[in-house]
Amino acid sequence: MSGSPNLRSAHRALAVFLLALSWLLSGTAAAADLETIKSEYQRPAEIPFPSHTPYSLHKAALGKMLFYDPRLSGAQNMNCASCHNPSFGYETPVATAIGAANTPLGRHAPTVLNLAWTPRLFWDGRADTLEDQAAGPITAPVEMNGKFPEIVERLDNIEEYRTWFAKLFPGEGVSRNNILSAIATYERTVISGTAPFDRWIDGDENAVTSEAKQGFELFVGKARCASCHTGWNFTDNAFHDIGLDTDDIGRAGITSDSNNTRHAFKTPGLRNLSYRAPFMHNGSMPDLKAVIAHYNFGGNKRPSLSPEMRPLQLSRTEQENLLAFLLSLTAEKTNTPIPVLPN
Ligand code: HEC
Ligand code: HEC
Repeated sequence: MSGSPNLRSAHRALAVFLLALSWLLSGTAAAADLETIKSEYQRPAEIPFPSHTPYSLHKAALGKMLFYDPRLSGAQNMNCASCHNPSFGYETPVATAIGAANTPLGRHAPTVLNLAWTPRLFWDGRADTLEDQAAGPITAPVEMNGKFPEIVERLDNIEEYRTWFAKLFPGEGVSRNNILSAIATYERTVISGTAPFDRWIDGDENAVTSEAKQGFELFVGKARCASCHTGWNFTDNAFHDIGLDTDDIGRAGITSDSNNTRHAFKTPGLRNLSYRAPFMHNGSMPDLKAVIAHYNFGGNKRPSLSPEMRPLQLSRTEQENLLAFLLSLTAEKTNTPIPVLPN
């Protein structure tokens, strides 16, 4: 090795300078990347109503009454909110909901928040529209155990309902399809409010803690969550097996029974999670800590397990940051006024 001490120290100074420069540039590149990623989480400006059932304020108001009306059930004692309660993020705080037969159902009641953006309904995606979906619980013996001819007659005998239906569905009045159409229109208006996370996305750096910001970087990076929980409602609306202990074959029950759809369920949105425990299609996870621990472990290995699932090796601090981020997706609680039902 030759070279004067001066030359060597000049070399060293240059090396240090280059190192600092590349660190600075990669830092700004990372910041620019983060801004691009953040822009994919912006709330939409409008609700997408289907063209065949456009929004009307009155139709949504009628649908809301029906959502809360126990007269849609066989014994007139159960409404949609019995299992989709606004106080619990439009879910119910038990592992699997209890229906008209007084026995637990096979699955946990999912939220009805933000479904205007969801192309396939139910954990296994077996209904294509909210209209089709609503017919299920009304008539299922273990859910509301209602019968449409009776329900239509019952509502038609209530003057205020008769008038509303006649106005909104001229020449048709109370019918099965119109009941479902009104409920679906109301459901499309059930949207999670603005959360601290949204204010951060909109540029308020103080809206969330630095732990939550680091949690978001883990969510879209090392923890791989964003490979399935995408966009402002945090779902790709697709079906995946995340390796839970379950006998339920999920999506495979309604499509051809291939390994890839076994135990696959629809990715749930992650808004207002603070009110929605327990979690998963079988309500098997009591809280978000248990959910994060599950992903850290990587899920049970089996042929259908999603290739995105693998042990994450998150430190305790990283798990806490991820939790702080998930909690930043909950909007401040607002009162949901319950409609006065016609007599
Ligand atoms: C007895 C409890 C119970 C009642 C009452 C009930 N539901 Fe549900 N709901 C559930 C359960 C459980 C599921 C999930 C079933 C599945 O995926 O197999 C569900 C699923 C849904 C979904 C699908 C959500 C998604 O993300 O795919 C919607 C929408 C829905 N219910 C709306 C309604 C409406 C509207 C009513 C009233 C007409 C109603 N529910 C009444 C328990 C109930
Ligand atoms: C392979 C796709 C995939 C990945 C990766 C993934 N999720 Fe999920 N997530 C799902 C699916 C599917 C479910 C529902 C599974 C079930 O019930 O069987 C779910 C359920 C959840 C739930 C429960 C929501 C509810 O309503 O019950 C939370 C919370 C959650 N995931 C957060 C995360 C976090 C945090 C990460 C990253 C550590 C993550 N997910 C990674 C697909 C995924």
